[in-house]
Amino acid sequence: MQTGPAPVAPGAAPPRVDLSRGPAMQFTRDNGAPIGENRHSKAAGDFGPVLLEDAHLIEKLARFDRERVPERVVHARGTGAHGVFKATADISDLTKASLFAQGKETPVFVRFSTVIHGKDSPEFARDPHGFATKFYTDQGNWDLVGNNLPIFFIRDAIQFPDMIHSLKPDPVLNKQDPNRFFDFFSATPEATNMITQVFSNLGTPASYRTMDGNGVHAFKLVNAKGETVFAKFRWISRQGVHNYKADDAVKAGFNYLTDDLYAEIAKGNFPSWDLMIQIMPESEFAKLDYNPFDDTKEWLGVPFRKIGEMTLNKVPDNFFEWTEQSAFAPSNMVPGIEPSPDRMLQGRLFSYADTQRYRVGANVMSLPVNRPRVAVVNNNQDGQLNASGRDSSVNYFPTAAASKETADTFRNSTYTVNAVVDSRPIAKTNNFKQAGIFYRSLPAAEKVDLIRNLAADLGQVRSDRTRTIMVSYFYQADPDYGTRMAKAVNVPLAEVKRAVAEYQAANPEQPTN
Ligand code: HEM
Repeated sequence: MQTGPAPVAPGAAPPRVDLSRGPAMQFTRDNGAPIGENRHSKAAGDFGPVLLEDAHLIEKLARFDRERVPERVVHARGTGAHGVFKATADISDLTKASLFAQGKETPVFVRFSTVIHGKDSPEFARDPHGFATKFYTDQGNWDLVGNNLPIFFIRDAIQFPDMIHSLKPDPVLNKQDPNRFFDFFSATPEATNMITQVFSNLGTPASYRTMDGNGVHAFKLVNAKGETVFAKFRWISRQGVHNYKADDAVKAGFNYLTDDLYAEIAKGNFPSWDLMIQIMPESEFAKLDYNPFDDTKEWLGVPFRKIGEMTLNKVPDNFFEWTEQSAFAPSNMVPGIEPSPDRMLQGRLFSYADTQRYRVGANVMSLPVNRPRVAVVNNNQDGQLNASGRDSSVNYFPTAAASKETADTFRNSTYTVNAVVDSRPIAKTNNFKQAGIFYRSLPAAEKVDLIRNLAADLGQVRSDRTRTIMVSYFYQADPDYGTRMAKAVNVPLAEVKRAVAEYQAANPEQPTN
């Protein structure tokens, strides 16, 4: 197994344009042939046309024309770093995942990101912030594709394209518009917890180094005996969690998150995180006032236990090759880690690998950033830009050649499903309680920031109805929160209370705060 890239020496300079003159290398075409001219096209005299036979010119323009791959549909703006993960606890009672063998070190690549805006957007934009980790384990790659916030806006993948459409720029006017996304969220009360968190200062971290990371969903862990338990993962920043007020993030600058990460790594001030785990046995489920697989909820009150440490120690040599072409997918799991029935996670299991085969290509997994550090042995083949080096005729299975085999020890866990197949909401939606708990946990000054941040966007919404419904959700999370928001966005409290009564009449079984 490879050990990953060498760390940058402490005090080394950050990556920069190298304009120093070294011994000149001979320019070549992509076919390796040396060229004699690189500034002037092959033309028919001073007044004549440029010739199609100038293969170097054509190749140079054609390669330029193809420099861009489509940007990620979400999380387009990102920054990556190499590092190492060290398992620090024996959790073999919970999972057989080999990366968690106590003391084992596993190379990682991490990509941090913002979500909504394009690849070249400012890093000060308010957003959940992506925290995706690729562990190059000795049993294949495990991708923990999470965010800095512990919960999400919606609980079913079928809503994701609609939500993102509402948050992205208007398809006609090409500008982001709070009228559109609050129109969506006013019919999506389960988003109240996430909206409250993202409009707090958590939506503008002071640094990628000072963010926690969350796997958000529950995952199923399987031990060597085949016993299963559900778990959530969280990265706790050893630098502490520090955020900016919205204005200070803007002042920090367009590129402040990347600049900070690169500069600190180059100085040898390697950022690190503790990996924590929460465990929930099935016997606990009935006691909860929410669904344990609802990603709009945290598992509040369930203790965290430290199981490892991660240090980021090297800036990628090339942004495009490593960061842009990196492809994280929740479906990249390893033996001992399996999906839970979380309806968002289930959709993500399909969506990421699908978009990556389109965004980067069918052989996306063979690029250096994505390639497992173990041999890939299967019958998948060919496609654009394939360099597999396949030299066996046996590309089918079963075969008398018995050149590849499967082992029972790597079978997935089994489980029983006894349910009516239907498309309907989950029970125990409990849409507001945790938003209220989060609101009340904020210091007074940060409550002021939250109200100001939210009012700056919700206040732009022209529809009185939309503003009133949104405020009625905040009111159900916490009456003080709702009362302050009503004032901030100019809706009468009596109308808010009427909207609350309507909601509660339509959803009588749901506790609020
Ligand atoms: C990126 C879809 C929910 C975190 C992406 C990408 C897609 C996607 C298509 C682009 C991937 C690429 O081009 O490589 C979805 C769908 C979701 C969902 C369909 C819901 C069903 C979530 C949730 C989280 C999350 C709940 C956090 C737990 C991320 C992150 C990235 C990402 C961190 C960027 C990965 C990177 O750095 O390359 N998502 N997403 N997404 N998503 Fe989601």
